[in-house]
Amino acid sequence: MNDVLVVHGGAPLHGNIRVRGAKNLVSKAMVAALLGDSPSRLFDVPAIRDVEVVRGLLELHGVRVSDGATEGELVLDPANADRADADEINVHAGSSRIPILLCGPLLHRLGHAFIPDLGGCNIGGRPIDFHLQALREFGAIVDKTASGMEITAPNGLHGTKLQLPYPSVGATEQVLLTAVKAEGVTELRNAAVEPEIIDLICLLQKMGAIIKVHTDRVIEIEGVKRLGGYTHRPIPDRIEAASWAAAALATKGDVFVEGARQAEMMTFLNTYLSVGGAFEVDDSPVGGGIRFWHPGGELRAVVLETDVHPGFMTDWQQPMVVALTQARGLSIMHETVYERRLGYTRALGSMGATIQVYRECLGGTPCRFGRRNFLHSAVIAGPSKLHAAELMIPDLRAGFSHLIAALAAEGTSQVHGVSLINRGYEDFEGKLAALGAHVERG
Ligand code: EPU
Repeated sequence: MNDVLVVHGGAPLHGNIRVRGAKNLVSKAMVAALLGDSPSRLFDVPAIRDVEVVRGLLELHGVRVSDGATEGELVLDPANADRADADEINVHAGSSRIPILLCGPLLHRLGHAFIPDLGGCNIGGRPIDFHLQALREFGAIVDKTASGMEITAPNGLHGTKLQLPYPSVGATEQVLLTAVKAEGVTELRNAAVEPEIIDLICLLQKMGAIIKVHTDRVIEIEGVKRLGGYTHRPIPDRIEAASWAAAALATKGDVFVEGARQAEMMTFLNTYLSVGGAFEVDDSPVGGGIRFWHPGGELRAVVLETDVHPGFMTDWQQPMVVALTQARGLSIMHETVYERRLGYTRALGSMGATIQVYRECLGGTPCRFGRRNFLHSAVIAGPSKLHAAELMIPDLRAGFSHLIAALAAEGTSQVHGVSLINRGYEDFEGKLAALGAHVERG
């Protein structure tokens, strides 16, 4: 299919859309099914490319993945899990970062794991040193090969005391997925505590895991000998919800995001109000969600810093910056999670936005990237009238923000590489149509 979306911008988005289970929980939940000795059932799984990649990887390892009785339901049966051929696994090399999380479950199940070279968005170096260090401390042996990594645990996996240098989401998940069946107790300090991680812990607990979340980012895991399958409905995708909320603001629209929940979005909602957006929470158990809209008048500039939970998510940054191009005054965005996540602002500049990026840590506390030659702070001067442009999507979240900018701009934009958005946004073209956007395939 032609990978270009033609966007006729300048019209507000109006209407209702629905978000399903969080991409960044669903993929990990699918991996966790490998730890059980009976089938697992996962509801509300979005039809996105990342889910397909994990499904393919699990199937290569003998896990039977089938669609359940309801829409978006997956049944994962690991009864026949087995070693997979390295060449076949390598077909998935470069397509996702999830394979690294298969290490613990595969080591417990088969005593061996082969992990291909990883993919994911190009938003920084994205090393896996924390993962490998943790695996080694559990007793794993990691051998780098030409095409990936062979990981074994000849003496089994044993609980250990670990401290992450930074509260990495992936490394915390790595430790959880390994420690739950390791012999003895594991104590993890400086753990990430994102809602998706707490949801993964809930799911593991349903399987029989014993995990205590203490204050101050300390997680303690008591290893158990066996785990069963789970039945789980994931938390909603708060990144997708925030993306549509920002789109409503940038286009002066009004969007009801069914499935969005206040608790996981509190930090985003505070910012939304500070900028001048309006929202209303509908707590109904069925059909509830959050309505986001532009109440009229001028948006206000803000100073923002991305951070680990409970801070402002790095994945909320790009859509919010597009909305900030419409705010009066100077806004500051200091990106402290990834060192190269502001490259997309050049494209916004080509559409008439006034954005300057800096190496310095602006507006907040110094971060790991200060004085290290990374352009990781942005100053956005607004409001700017955006005009149409020819855009090339660089990565998932930046891609969606390009789309928002094209929708907010006067004129017709050509957005190339839109299939990348399918990695994390289910049926975004259908949702755009439901919101009255004027888009068509180029
Ligand atoms: N880091 C290291 N060494 C490691 C691991 C991480 O230095 O071994 C650094 C990273 O380079 C980064 C920081 O730690 O600077 C945080 O990375 P983290 O491990 O938390 O990120 P991740 O687990 O790779 C997940 C999400 C990202 C999201 C981040 C932060 C998934 C599949 N990905 O990535 O989501 O931005 O957490 O919340 O869960 C996205 O959905 O578009 C996306 C990029």
